[in-house]
Amino acid sequence: MLLNIAKTTALVALTAYTLNAADFNAQAEKDRIALVKYFEAKFEDPLKNRNTFFPYSTDDELENNIMSGLKFEDFSKGNYSFSKNGRMSYDEIKEMPPYEEFVEKGEALYEKPFANGKSFKDCFPDPSQAGVMYPYFDETKKDVQTLTVAINECLVANGEKPWKTSKGPIAHLEAFFAQSAQDAEKVIDVKIDSATAAEAYERGKEYYYTQRGYLKLNCAECHVIGAGQRVRNESLSPFLGQVTHFPVYRLKWAASDKNNDGLGTLERRMSGCIKDQGQVPPKDDSRDMKELLFFMAYMSNGMKIDGPDIRK
Ligand code: HEC
Repeated sequence: MLLNIAKTTALVALTAYTLNAADFNAQAEKDRIALVKYFEAKFEDPLKNRNTFFPYSTDDELENNIMSGLKFEDFSKGNYSFSKNGRMSYDEIKEMPPYEEFVEKGEALYEKPFANGKSFKDCFPDPSQAGVMYPYFDETKKDVQTLTVAINECLVANGEKPWKTSKGPIAHLEAFFAQSAQDAEKVIDVKIDSATAAEAYERGKEYYYTQRGYLKLNCAECHVIGAGQRVRNESLSPFLGQVTHFPVYRLKWAASDKNNDGLGTLERRMSGCIKDQGQVPPKDDSRDMKELLFFMAYMSNGMKIDGPDIRK
């Protein structure tokens, strides 16, 4: 009898746990599916649905530049996902990608021993896995872990100095990881397995949707509602798929670098947008930045890693 009660209680407890575990990502999944639906509807037939989605675009833009019939995976290429003109120059540059030499540098850094004889291999045994498993929620530290932070923690744990987090060696190593993940056809799969992870997601989401700066814009006004429209000379990229391709080699960044090294981390790009909004961006290893990144990565779940990539 007692044993039976114990068994039943254990079963009830187990069921409750299983239900909760499935529940922790319920809100995030709802958000993600809504975002996918929004973008597929928006780019199904931009000209026909202009009143709903493109009220400010010109006839010329809608008839001659914006593509239609885009599906989920198509959104991984930023504004080249939908811009015919942009896509032509993109395809040309991709024939001889200017980031290749930096991917090789990244591989050399991966192989190179630290002063203590160990190397990045000890921290990241599988480069293709390193290119897809971040960010994740570390249930022990109760904090989001990002690749950028993990690389610097690896350096420090081995008695080396941490790297600058925006460009240079860190971007090279991340490019090597991204390329390895792309070659292995890895798919983004951010998990939310606890209430604390769900809270981190919610805080990241709040950051994304908070209006800031002198224009009082939030990220979504440009990258969800605004995606496909123009700001000055730039087409705004869709939020969906925005994290699949980093680090990115920007022609603009290359032009201001003495080695023509235009590679930069995702944090560098996000900080650029926050600065453009007239704000001081959070530090790359801060909770705000990591949780924002966690939220953004979850929203691209199910998409293939296709970094590194090029941008204007
Ligand atoms: C005023 C409009 C505006 C706002 C607000 C804005 N951005 Fe951007 N963002 C841009 C423009 C313009 C670009 C360059 C063209 C493009 O790729 O969208 C860009 C590019 C990006 C990219 C690179 C996309 C790629 O594929 O290379 C990321 C990531 C990004 N923004 C994140 C953010 C985040 C996060 C926020 C909020 C903290 C934000 N942006 C707010 C205008 C904006």
